Parts: sequence; structure tokens; C-alpha cells
Amino acid sequence: MKQFNDFLTLGIETSCDETGIGIFSENKGLIAHHLYSQIEMHKIYGGVVPELASRDHIKRVVGLIQQSLNQVNLKLSDINGIAYTAGPGLAGALLVGSSIARSLAWGLDIPALAIHHMEGHLLAPFLEDKKPKFPFLSLLVSGGHSMLIKVQKFGKYEILGESVDDAVGEAFDKTAKILGLGYPGGVVLEQLAKKGDKSKFEFPRPMAKKAGLNFSFSGLKTYAKNTFYDNPNNKADVACAFQEAALDSLVIKCKKALKQTGLKTLVIAGGVSANQRLRKKCQNLDVELFFPRLEFCTDNGAMIAYAGHQRLIKGQKDDTLEINIKPKWNLESLTKV
Ligand code: KG4
Ligand code: ZN
Repeated sequence: MKQFNDFLTLGIETSCDETGIGIFSENKGLIAHHLYSQIEMHKIYGGVVPELASRDHIKRVVGLIQQSLNQVNLKLSDINGIAYTAGPGLAGALLVGSSIARSLAWGLDIPALAIHHMEGHLLAPFLEDKKPKFPFLSLLVSGGHSMLIKVQKFGKYEILGESVDDAVGEAFDKTAKILGLGYPGGVVLEQLAKKGDKSKFEFPRPMAKKAGLNFSFSGLKTYAKNTFYDNPNNKADVACAFQEAALDSLVIKCKKALKQTGLKTLVIAGGVSANQRLRKKCQNLDVELFFPRLEFCTDNGAMIAYAGHQRLIKGQKDDTLEINIKPKWNLESLTKV
């Protein structure tokens, strides 16, 4: 049945190895979401194979949209706008989401809007009942990014610091691979670290004494590798020492950024925000803290539906029929809402 007096946004996420769909209603909030993870398929290769990722998104996306609509007894014709991840991410994978989104929008004669994947992550905590208030500091930590952002308002982002080399999630994944923990490594490394002895090894806290708010994680990964090769029987202790150092360096820079900006609210999002040890360490910060629920820390369609919805209801839309993607896309270039 047509949902009068409501605005329904369909969100489509296909930037990497997860096909995610969400439906956000102006009246009821998030009403449906479905996710298909390709982890099992990529596992045997030890990482994401881009071509396989694109092909799998093609296989899943239509079925997942249908499943999400069915969940709430809606038809495609009930949807008022479509938001899709246009970047950053893998070009082939992004093309799947943008093609289906733009084609559906054209066929249904409704607006479509390209969404920045990291804006989706940043806004994921707004899917919870208790929402952060602007302005706030955001720590965005995923497999592709580690950024500290001053969020003045929705759409106005100032990057205060970022990683000069590997993203923190990438360093977790690479270290996990070195330790023979498989892919994706972040969550497995966290589990193993729980069994480690914190006092066994003390790793350096990269960039801690350097001015500025940038991070660096690739040296830490090498430090873990060398320590493991010299101490092959101390796998859990190495995992623990790596995790402590990586997370401390995030917390150190958060503290610095909070002091520098005077902000009193900290929003942490992206895949690494699922890490329980990070959540624990942040409890000591003198701020109001916000995290997404665990399933919305990693990639999902709900966050894209939410971010897109906020823009679509204000009348923003892409004024082109072209199917274009932005595998590299600066968060600071986004428009305000
Ligand atoms: O946000 P996300 O799903 O994808 C990107 O946008 O990159 O983040 C995935 C990253 C991976 O590097 C994964 O290992 C890491 O988040 N991750 C974790 C944990 N869960 C996921 N890292 C540390 N601890 C975790 N519990
Ligand atoms: Zn992500």
C-alpha cells in the first residue's frame, strides 16, 4: 500500500565485500535492513578479490532489495528516493550499487543520490535512540580509513588528522595475517588478544609524541611481525601488545583533538569501533561517547539509507542520469545539509 505522508529512502551499499540494503522512513525511522557478507568467499584468498566482489554484488543486490521490501510489506513503487554508496571503495563493486540505484530511480521516476561511504559510517550512531548533538569530534576507524573529524553539522566535516600510511583496520588485518589468523582479521585478533599477557611485550605508541593529529600504523605491524618471528610461541601476547599499542595511539590522539577543539562529544564509528577493548579504553575520556550498535559498525545498508534520507528530504538529488562513481572522494568536499 502506498505510504502517504511518509518519505521512504532505499539505501544501497556495495563499496567492498558486503551487500547492504536499508529502508529508512521519515515517520518510523529504520524499518528494514539486510546484509550479505562475502567473507566466506574471500577467505580462501586471504583478502578481498575485487572482481569476485563485484560479481557477487550483482548476484545479491536485487534479492536483498526484494527481501527488505517484503519484510515491511512494501513495493518498489512505495519508495520515494534512493541513496547509494558512490565512493570511496572498489570501483567495480561501487558500479554495481550505483547502476542498480540509478536505474531503479530512473524507472520509478524518483530522485537518486550518491552517498559518501564514510559519511554513512559517521552517521551510523544516529540510528540509535540516543543521538549525538552537533558539534562533535568523530573518530572514523575502518579497513580503509583512520580519521579524526570535527563535525560542525550534518555535511560539514573538517579532517583534523588521518593515517599517513595503513588504516588501523588494515593494520589489524595485516597483523592477523602475519599471525596466521586468516581474513578478516580484526575481530579474530581481538579474541586472541584477550588470551594474551599484557605485560609480556610493550610496543611503541606510533606518533604519540609527534605534533598534530595524524596516525601511523604500518610500523606497528612490522614491529608485531618481528616480535612474532622472534617469539613464535607467544602469538596471543603479540596480538595483545599490537592491539594495546594500536588502540592507545587512537585514544592518545582523540584526547589531544578533544583538548584542541574543546569539544565534549566523541562519536566513534567504522569497523574498528566494534572492538570492545577500544570501547573500554574510551570510557576514561571525559566526554559523552557514542558508538553504533555492533552490526552497524561494519559496512551496512542502514547507514547509507540514513545519510541519504537526511539529504533527500531536504531536496538534494543528483542532477544527472549518468552512472558515476567516486572510488576516491574527499569527505570535506561534501555539501552541507
Ligand atoms: O567499516 P568496515 O566494515 O569496512 C571498511 O569501510 O573498511 O571495516 C572493516 C575493518 C576491517 O579492517 C576489520 O578487520 C575491522 O574493521 N574490524 C575490527 C573489528 N571488527 C572489524 N578491528 C578490530 N577489532 C574488531 N573487533
Ligand atoms: Zn566501511
